[in-house]
Amino acid sequence: MKGLILSGGAGTRLRPITHTSAKQLVPVANKPVLFYGLEAMRAAGIAEVGIVVGDTRAKIEAAVGDGSRFDLRVTYLPQEAPLGLAHAVMIAEDFLGDSAFVMYLGDNLLKEGIAPFVQRFAETQPDALILLQKVADPSAYGIAELEDGCVTRLVEKPAEPRSDLALVGVYIFTPAVFESVKAITPSPRGELEITDAIQHMIDRGRRVEAHIVKGWWKDTGKLEDMLEANRLILSTIERDVRGTTTECIVEGPVVVGATSRLERCTVRGPVIIGERCHLAGAFIGPYTAINDDVTIEDAEMENSIILEGSSVCSLSARMTDSLIGKNVSIRRSDARPVAYRFMVGDSSQIGIL
Ligand code: TTP
Repeated sequence: MKGLILSGGAGTRLRPITHTSAKQLVPVANKPVLFYGLEAMRAAGIAEVGIVVGDTRAKIEAAVGDGSRFDLRVTYLPQEAPLGLAHAVMIAEDFLGDSAFVMYLGDNLLKEGIAPFVQRFAETQPDALILLQKVADPSAYGIAELEDGCVTRLVEKPAEPRSDLALVGVYIFTPAVFESVKAITPSPRGELEITDAIQHMIDRGRRVEAHIVKGWWKDTGKLEDMLEANRLILSTIERDVRGTTTECIVEGPVVVGATSRLERCTVRGPVIIGERCHLAGAFIGPYTAINDDVTIEDAEMENSIILEGSSVCSLSARMTDSLIGKNVSIRRSDARPVAYRFMVGDSSQIGIL
């Protein structure tokens, strides 16, 4: 079995981060989202993975390389534009050949990984196996209707849902899918939809089975979901404080890189702090992930993700629920006139007191 990870896309809902990087590379608990997917592939016994890439190809390639770090062989599959998930499958046909494959959305996180799912496919040998999860608000998702474990109908964001089982961003297909991705036409939003391709498979009598995920699943396509994924992963970390802590209170599951220095700080886990960080006079509250080379002085924060090279200094109120990009500087200014002073990229969001 091969793997197909989709890491193209526009990432509009995560701007401005996606103006300069790929959303699949935003770190969750200090590790890029995409790496969790690659590790899940390896853990399921898959050795060969194709990564569909778009405008951010260079960044993805720089991060993943030839895949040897993950014990995988990685091939990059350029997609000229984000024309839909089924379009991504279509351009991967030569790479996939006659192998069955797991298709995984590169910005998704799945607690139980994909091994149980791959095993189920091997046992029942359907033409496609889709992963589903019960959701509270089915009208916000692609929903599957089932009969005796087989999928009979897929409906995108139904106004009157007949099931509460939403499609999770992981699928297993046999090469039977290629006929369907070629037969469908673009949806009103101009994309070749994978739900249409699966419905096409069902309509021509192919067996599409469903597997219901028990653990959590998270699509990290927007800020709140990214922060929630960060919380879910941080909830599983164990204490490992290696850096130096001087006059600090460090409570609970906290990870601090060996080359980081903390002075006069209170850190209340779960928190992860990377390498070469300097924190002084700071409160770092639960569910915060601080990447490498970050400086924090006289500031309080919680439930936030801070990317590498940034600094946050002398804040008069606590920062919360925030995603701070790379090399950002946030600091209090004593300059006159007393005023807010911003230099902010396109599509940024700022909440002020
Ligand atoms: P989405 O999150 O559905 O789409 P998007 O990345 O364009 O984001 P937004 O809606 O915020 O603009 O995509 C799911 C995953 O699939 C994501 O990892 C990007 C990837 N993808 C492709 O590789 N090719 C495509 O044509 C599309 C639509 C998505």
